[in-house]
Amino acid sequence: MLYRNFAKPFFFKMDPEAAHHLVIGGLQKSAALPGGKASLRMMYGVPESPELAVDLFGLHFHTPVGLAAGLDKNAQAVGGFSSIGFGFMEVGTVTPKGQPGNEQPRLFRLPSDEALINRMGFNNEGADSMANRLKKAGRRSIPVAVNIGKNKTTPNEDAHEDYRKCIRTLYPYGDFFVVNISSPNTPDLRSLQHGSELSRLLTEVKEEMEIQRGKSGAKKSILVKIAPDVSASELEYMVNTIAEAGVDGIIATNTTISRNGLSHERASETGGLSGKPLRDRSTEIISAIYRQTRGQLPIIGSGGIFTPQDAYDKIKAGASLVEIYTALIYEGPEVNRRLHAGLRNLLRRDGFRHISEAVGADVQ
Ligand SMILES: Cc1cc2nc3c(=O)[nH]c(=O)nc-3n(C[C@H](O)[C@H](O)[C@H](O)COP(=O)(O)O)c2cc1C
Repeated sequence: MLYRNFAKPFFFKMDPEAAHHLVIGGLQKSAALPGGKASLRMMYGVPESPELAVDLFGLHFHTPVGLAAGLDKNAQAVGGFSSIGFGFMEVGTVTPKGQPGNEQPRLFRLPSDEALINRMGFNNEGADSMANRLKKAGRRSIPVAVNIGKNKTTPNEDAHEDYRKCIRTLYPYGDFFVVNISSPNTPDLRSLQHGSELSRLLTEVKEEMEIQRGKSGAKKSILVKIAPDVSASELEYMVNTIAEAGVDGIIATNTTISRNGLSHERASETGGLSGKPLRDRSTEIISAIYRQTRGQLPIIGSGGIFTPQDAYDKIKAGASLVEIYTALIYEGPEVNRRLHAGLRNLLRRDGFRHISEAVGADVQ
């Protein structure tokens, strides 16, 4: 209520990117105050609920709802986001070298569609800067995934080197890693999802993960985040290649380039569309992956989750965890308590004692 009635009208009058910086800065400062994290937890935290806790990738997730990549691109507000009811968060997408991203404006609200369009283009301060931030932040209360990408100026033939550099720099500081080859805003990035480019990239990435594991002694998981704009046969090939490469899981999905069913005048802006219009397509992709892998490859569901039912549909389609971005912009941090309480009720209603029993329950 606090967010929808007071903060949202204020933020929604501002330029979307300026509002974004204000939120990140505010969270960063609040968490740094004495007692700041405890106050955030009191206002927005979720209760411990054993039926919603997930153990996966050798990590403990106290609740299955996480923060998706792209909001905290530079890992500036990890303490803040960890205290407002998320079970995990992604930072990034980070690239080896810092880069400015695309020209502004590059983020658009489409309130009548409960959606956003962005063409940010991996604006970030680079892997070294993120490593320093995560090092300084010290111990964390939730798992933090580092989402990695390639610089805009790196040709696709050399993309694997960029992903390897990010892993080399950030391995000690991430709890798990996400290979982002699905952003529509870096020219040609999505072609890394197909054909021999995908198997080569994943072989290189896995090799680097093994090297870093050997050096540090700590085994960490690597996931691949995929786009929703693929045909059934492309998806089948991608999932096969990902599974064969020994990757630990899939995040489905990133934003879409489709513009189906939009009413807002901003609908024709170039970029990736997130929020409600993406919801059903990403759930379909989750089902297809779960069916193809017979539930053997963990899936994190992303795309258009606003309500407990939206999250539950993705879990029943095969997601072990889910994550949100656009709902946080439209609903504020209160959304986490609603999702948490609602998921608990939905599990109970359907006679599931634990969330793991619901994973894939809708897939024949
Ligand atoms: C402004 C914005 C920036 C994003 N940046 C990234 C990014 O850097 N890396 C990434 O993997 N996904 C990025 N995403 C995609 C989100 O992580 C998420 O997968 C997508 O928005 C679908 O979830 P949602 O409908 O809950 O927002 C971004 C999304 C938005 C709206």
